[in-house]
Amino acid sequence: MRRKAPTPVEDLTIMEASAELAELAGEIARHDRAYFEQDAPIIPDAEYDVLRQRNEAIEARFPELIREDSPSRRVGAGVVEKFGKVRHAVPMLSLANGFSDEDASDFVGRIRRFLNLDDAQPVDITAEPKIDGLSISLRYENRKLVQAATRGDGFEGENVTANVMTIAQVPKRLKGDAPEIVEVRGEIYMSHADFAALNDRQAQAGEKVFANPRNAAAGSLRQLDSAITAARPLRFFAYAWGEAPVLPADTQMGVIEAFASWGLPTNPLMKLCGSVEELLAHYRLIESQRAELGYDIDGVVYKVNRLDWQQRLGFVSRSPRWGLAHKFSAEKAMTVLEKIDIQVGRTGALTPVARLKPVTVGGVVVTNATLHNEDEIARKDIREGDTVIVQRAGDVIPQILGFVAEKRPVDAKPYHFPQECPVCQSHAVREERAGGKLDAVRRCTGGLICAAQRVERLKHFASRNAFDIEGLGDKIIAEFYADELIQWPHDIFTLEARDKGALKRLKNREGWGEASVAKLFEAIDQRRSIALDRFIFALGIRHVGETTARALARAYGTVAHFHEQMIAAGPMEGDAWNELNAIDGIGEVVAEAVVQFFGEPHNRDVVDELLKHVTVTSLEARSTTSPVAGKTVVFTGALERMTRDEAKAMAERLGAKVSGSVSKKTDLLVAGPGAGSKLKDAEKYGVEVIDENAWFERVGEA
Ligand code: IVH
Repeated sequence: MRRKAPTPVEDLTIMEASAELAELAGEIARHDRAYFEQDAPIIPDAEYDVLRQRNEAIEARFPELIREDSPSRRVGAGVVEKFGKVRHAVPMLSLANGFSDEDASDFVGRIRRFLNLDDAQPVDITAEPKIDGLSISLRYENRKLVQAATRGDGFEGENVTANVMTIAQVPKRLKGDAPEIVEVRGEIYMSHADFAALNDRQAQAGEKVFANPRNAAAGSLRQLDSAITAARPLRFFAYAWGEAPVLPADTQMGVIEAFASWGLPTNPLMKLCGSVEELLAHYRLIESQRAELGYDIDGVVYKVNRLDWQQRLGFVSRSPRWGLAHKFSAEKAMTVLEKIDIQVGRTGALTPVARLKPVTVGGVVVTNATLHNEDEIARKDIREGDTVIVQRAGDVIPQILGFVAEKRPVDAKPYHFPQECPVCQSHAVREERAGGKLDAVRRCTGGLICAAQRVERLKHFASRNAFDIEGLGDKIIAEFYADELIQWPHDIFTLEARDKGALKRLKNREGWGEASVAKLFEAIDQRRSIALDRFIFALGIRHVGETTARALARAYGTVAHFHEQMIAAGPMEGDAWNELNAIDGIGEVVAEAVVQFFGEPHNRDVVDELLKHVTVTSLEARSTTSPVAGKTVVFTGALERMTRDEAKAMAERLGAKVSGSVSKKTDLLVAGPGAGSKLKDAEKYGVEVIDENAWFERVGEA
């Protein structure tokens, strides 16, 4: 359990921040696994969000401490459910980070001591750019590319072979004297130019734009449809290896040169250095070329050249003693803060955004930066018109470190954070937290009378994990809202009918045509039927993320029952209220938020109107005739005919409930080879156990 009252982020020392980020990375990863893999979340969504927000806040203050395994670097939800899993024969571990020249020389000193080398003996170390992409393991058998896997948690990644096959820079066949078996490891990335062109295309098509090239590369690689990956220009550098029974050389440099001779792209800036001074000189050279490279790098990687020494040095925890990632410090620049704008989010949160005179920070033009919240602005005494120091590192939104006192205009006035919503003028308040402390966030109390909240809610409603209406991205929603084509969620479903009689038809709008309109209407039609969990999530109730929505959907089964019970729980006492609070994963904060949502007549109207146009399928109603309908099933051990995610999806399609652990409520345990404690639990509770083949026979899909 985490501390109840954590140290405010602004008071953390760098050591405390580093330790806490490590702890948060582990903790959040554990929750992701529980949620995505075991479907058994350990904490409510709201608590999970607090962890993520804390992680983000610490990273924003200490960008140089952002970890390889940081939750903020994982795209989307982290573990993807759609690809098959690949267990890495040799784990894909990460490098220890260094931030200073001293860290680099300590690294070399440690190696010398570990190997017991005398001062006269040179230690050759390679230095090369640290590419900011995603690592990949490519398995070649008899020179042919047979498998590509992402890093995943380092031990198990996702099978993305079909997608990697579409990347021109990845050879499908190795040339020259490549051995029978070799796993080549390296980085998939996207160039700046390709990234900009992709985002232009995405924006024009009304699709999501990516925050940076690394996210774009990851998003492109993890497409279910490999045709989409093929249309996105991904690149590759090889820099390491996994399973490799026979190596072509006995040095790091030698192996990388052999990789190049086999047709694999290698980085031209890799250099062999004989001393710390040479390493640092090369570090500075690479840093000076950073902005012109045309792709993102975030440091320089040092590796002991002799492979026999690498072998002897081995690993400490999850990083090799023979390697170091010498990270670049966060880029800083000075510019003028022209204005502080307040953005209003879906739940009414007022977020201050600094509008800056455009400035290049580490090769990227920055025009906006976060100011976090009103306390932060007051603490730093940032004022409109100030010359400020902006810092940008990796993925995080640029932030303002402080102002330059000498440059403050004489008439600059302290910033007064608005007490009213700038969009609807309703009161904006800071709620009181437990213990009497005020929430850091000020919120608009306008709810659905606030246009900003409405439009944000609409965006959420149509978004990928909610109604997932293709072609109705954030930009289009904002346009349709402004033009009064869509004001409420149900308007989406009457759009086509209204369009028929409209004076200015959609197909005549700029950027639209007959085909794109037909496509949009088709996408909307496809969502006239939706599962209850998605429906609940789409409502955008505060604190109700996907996990919570799923828990509610499971507990109430049908939309009618859910709706009725939430209204019955309104007085916050009695059976309905107790039942809501008793649901696994629903804490009081969430329960209150849901009940408050349904307590608002305008929210109930939104739901009622929507239900006139969409059919909500209950989770159980997906299948009632299959032999496993209504049963609670647990899968354990290795499955050979399907991935764990496929198994789960199949069981759910057949009306079963899939659980991550065996209890007396479990009806069936499907156990593959290697099953352990769950098998024992099944025996203890007398749960029926069958193997994978028997499962297929049972459900009639053998
Ligand atoms: S060598 C034992 N070389 O950085 C790990 N990694 O923290 C050996 N990376 O996950 C990795 N550029 O994704 C290596 N030139 C480079 C790299 C590099 C980027 C990434 C890689 C890895 C992480 C290590």
